[in-house]
Amino acid sequence: KDKFMMAADSAVSNGGENILTESDDDILSPDDLSEVLTTGTKESHDKAENSPFVKDFLRGRIKRELFKLGTAALYYVYSAIEEEIEKNKDHPMFAPLYFPSELHRRDALAKDLEYLYGEDWESKISCSAATQPYVDRIHVVGRDDPVLLVAHAWTRYMGDLSGGQILKKVAQRALKLPPTGEGVNFYYFEGIHNPTAFKRLYRSRMNELEVDAETKKKLLDEANLAFKYNLDVFTELQEIGKDIKEEVQDIGFHGHGDMGGDISK
Ligand code: HEM
Repeated sequence: KDKFMMAADSAVSNGGENILTESDDDILSPDDLSEVLTTGTKESHDKAENSPFVKDFLRGRIKRELFKLGTAALYYVYSAIEEEIEKNKDHPMFAPLYFPSELHRRDALAKDLEYLYGEDWESKISCSAATQPYVDRIHVVGRDDPVLLVAHAWTRYMGDLSGGQILKKVAQRALKLPPTGEGVNFYYFEGIHNPTAFKRLYRSRMNELEVDAETKKKLLDEANLAFKYNLDVFTELQEIGKDIKEEVQDIGFHGHGDMGGDISK
């Protein structure tokens, strides 16, 4: 068992004072990077959650064509993130967050695209106008300032681990995808059995990184930028959707569920 997992399991506090040792390093302080990012991206997160595209998706109002384009956009984004992560996997500011078998999504997305577009999927997709700047930014960061990759990895992977199970079910129902998971491999983390525990581990690893106050601020700005890129992709998809004539049903998610990070913020 990873020492951080042990730590996450056995948190103790000391007379109201948090002592951050290896045995209780999941007790968070507001200065911890994970908390700085969670708190400092709350507005961005609200905007993303409330964007028309996301709201429609949650209601099960998603057109197959848009789902395909969204999956393609994610493929370009994750290809970029994971390419830069591989280049920087030994960088001391990223190495503790290197979890390729647990987190990496590129291969899952490739499978989904093959299912959705067919065997020649690669010739049928392209990087959209809104996705390209996001991809470019990830490459610039990976090359020039790899510490900031932490913000990109956090924004995507922790988000996927939080909302993924709901989105998977909605997509399966709305698009009548098979219950065996074809088309929604992206949402299924084979190597993670307990998303809540994994998020705890990831946070504790983030909080062990030696980041000074200035770097923390840069990471927060980068995370907000990552949210903005995601929002731009949603807006683009929503616009494209207006021109697609396709039946949608309204069968989505109503009420609150729990999938290891419940949806009822
Ligand atoms: C976390 C909901 C969209 C990024 C979460 C959490 C929930 C949630 C319930 C769990 C918070 C916790 O663990 O305490 C949703 C819903 C969305 C949505 C309903 C709409 C479908 C997004 C988007 C992004 C995103 C579009 C960015 C691309 C994140 C991140 C976290 C998170 C980075 C981790 C926060 C942390 O560790 O504190 N979300 N989210 N979410 N979400 Fe979302």
